[in-house]
Amino acid sequence: MENYNDMQTMIDAQDLTLSPPEEEVQRQYYFIKKCREIVEKKSKEAGRALTACSVCMGCQMNARDSEKLSGILEMAGFTCVDTEDADFVIYNTCTVREHASQRVYGRLGSLSGKKRANPHKKIALCGCMMQEEAVIAKIKKSYRFVDLIFGTHNIFKFAELLCTMFESGGMVVDIWKDTDQIVEDLPVERKYPFKSGVNIMFGCNNFCSYCIVPYVRGRERSRKPEDIVREIRRLVDDGVVEIMLLGQNVNSYGKTLNTLVTFAGLLEEIEKIEGLKRIRFMTSHPKDLSDELIHAMKHSTKLCRHLHLPLQSGSTRILEKMNRHYTKEQYLALAEKIKREIPDISLTTDIIVGFPGETPADVDETIDVIRQVQFDNAFTFLYSKRTGTPAAAMEGQVPEAIAKEGFGRLLKAVQDTAKKRAGRLVGETWEALVEEQNEQDASYMTGRLSNNMIVHFQGNASLIGSIVRVHLTECRGFYYIGRMCEGRE
Ligand code: 5AD
Ligand code: SF4
Repeated sequence: MENYNDMQTMIDAQDLTLSPPEEEVQRQYYFIKKCREIVEKKSKEAGRALTACSVCMGCQMNARDSEKLSGILEMAGFTCVDTEDADFVIYNTCTVREHASQRVYGRLGSLSGKKRANPHKKIALCGCMMQEEAVIAKIKKSYRFVDLIFGTHNIFKFAELLCTMFESGGMVVDIWKDTDQIVEDLPVERKYPFKSGVNIMFGCNNFCSYCIVPYVRGRERSRKPEDIVREIRRLVDDGVVEIMLLGQNVNSYGKTLNTLVTFAGLLEEIEKIEGLKRIRFMTSHPKDLSDELIHAMKHSTKLCRHLHLPLQSGSTRILEKMNRHYTKEQYLALAEKIKREIPDISLTTDIIVGFPGETPADVDETIDVIRQVQFDNAFTFLYSKRTGTPAAAMEGQVPEAIAKEGFGRLLKAVQDTAKKRAGRLVGETWEALVEEQNEQDASYMTGRLSNNMIVHFQGNASLIGSIVRVHLTECRGFYYIGRMCEGRE
């Protein structure tokens, strides 16, 4: 829920003289109201408004979760700020690769100094990393100054946990192993007024052998189509023109619901929402991408011309060990079909280098796929060993130096093809959603094309949030320079 008046009505309806309601989401609004009293009291004591800072360290799913955390903090009476000097700091952590976790410990170290200097300061940790038992043990032992820890499954309880934190003297830890609960209508504070992520499903059932996500985000569960559509309608009423549908594997949307609904079917419903201009989604698993979806993308006027289709490896042998359920040839055939049906589509991907048992010949296979598919962009990652995943126990862990060599070769292939692909639109006119004013030159605005590329063009800040037509005059590496055409749409 994003409308301030609606949220306020929910809070006003709570009676703090009674015990907290059992049912969600009312229960959380009860605790938001209670928290507000506590924050007000503490603000008086401090002689200033208490501030809060929510830091997101992960993917788009985490970013959306962080917007919910910020929404709750705002409604609970905190003034949200961007600095970790705030009175309340919460890290929404990521654990997909090792170095993401390492960063958290580093930053926590510097927070402890700030905490000593501010008697009101509280520190909280949540997100994927907190679902790992070893992490909790380490924090309990070496980072005693942390006040609140919770995980991915009970994030909806944030308001309640905040109250517990204020009322208890010590560290509050609440981690759930799993959940089948989806709590709707929590407060949300969006980062952008004109675009928003929308969760359509949570968790993942794919168990790619390198990936920790199924263990920390739990089993796949889809939100009901009517709840999704209702949320998007509200967002549109609130000024949103572009949405990004979020799920670990959006192509298997609906499988856990009692009603027969597919991802393509959901898109059809969303497409009907008046006032919504653009629909994006992330992430697609190649094994589940249906012809129905390709057809929907081809004929839709709202679905953006961008598909992120993680490859991970171009070697069938490695793909099998990764438990990806497709071969090199199947991926190539799928990419070819997509490009044939939707010629103006932009394809991007994720690639892992250094998976156990990977040889330079396997890397060559991946490079071959990059050359054949001609991705517009690819995110390349060095394989990171995650405790508890099947790949961590596999033989043939690749020495870092060899993995880095493969990484360098891959990166070059990616950059070469991306460079070739960029620039192909020069001379064309595309619609761009105006997102922000250029930081270096305020007379320039930055817009995003349907295919996710960026264009800079002269304009003014009043255009932010609207869709304009831009003639693409020049390509500079990975972005365009353009000239806005007359008329807004
Ligand atoms: N090591 C390296 N990269 C990984 N990813 C997921 N798990 C790992 C891992 N253990 C990458 C995949 C995925 C992206 C979000 O992160 O490429 O698509
Ligand atoms: Fe991880 Fe594979 Fe699920 Fe993606 S599909 S979250 S890579 S297990």
